Amino acid sequence: MSESSFNKNAAATDLLRNVILIGFMGTGKTSIGKRVAQSLGFAFVDTDELIEQASGKSISDIFSDEGEDYFRDLESETLRGCGKRSNQVISTGGGIVLREANRQILSETGYVIWLKASADAILERVSRNHERPLLHTADPLQTIKDLLLERGKMYSASADFTIDTDELSIDETTFGICESARVIFGS
Ligand code: S3P
Repeated sequence: MSESSFNKNAAATDLLRNVILIGFMGTGKTSIGKRVAQSLGFAFVDTDELIEQASGKSISDIFSDEGEDYFRDLESETLRGCGKRSNQVISTGGGIVLREANRQILSETGYVIWLKASADAILERVSRNHERPLLHTADPLQTIKDLLLERGKMYSASADFTIDTDELSIDETTFGICESARVIFGS
């Protein structure tokens, strides 16, 4: 069943007017983020895209040439940069919550929404493209389950609002995010 839940702590604070989408690979952060940005009249940024632009390399090449730790450093630096601006929808890489420092930056940068999905739904969505180096394994479904287990608590702890996307269309999820953002930002 689809569900949404608010973390009440988020509602009261004077947040930067940014909507930040977190969640596993394949949960629709980029496609939904673009629609949300258009509807709210915000700029759209994607941390992976910013990293690729700044380094002139694809994420897959950064992973294979320099390794995951190096990528994670770039990701932290990029997120910190995004936190200097307002009126943005920020789509983040699925592993952004792994570092405590990033979780702190997320909480200071805006209204954080976790796009949640089941392992089966994720596998179906990511199997359409092969640009996820972490899923280049013998058993991608098991890898997704393992990573979800490892990351679930971090997504949950970082999120002000959670949307279970399994049974929602892109338009429905977009609508839910925009409505909740309008409530939070009071506009
Ligand atoms: C990653 C997710 C990817 C990208 C990188 C690592 C992860 O982004 O940042 O491949 O650790 O889950 P998407 O979630 O946009 O696919």
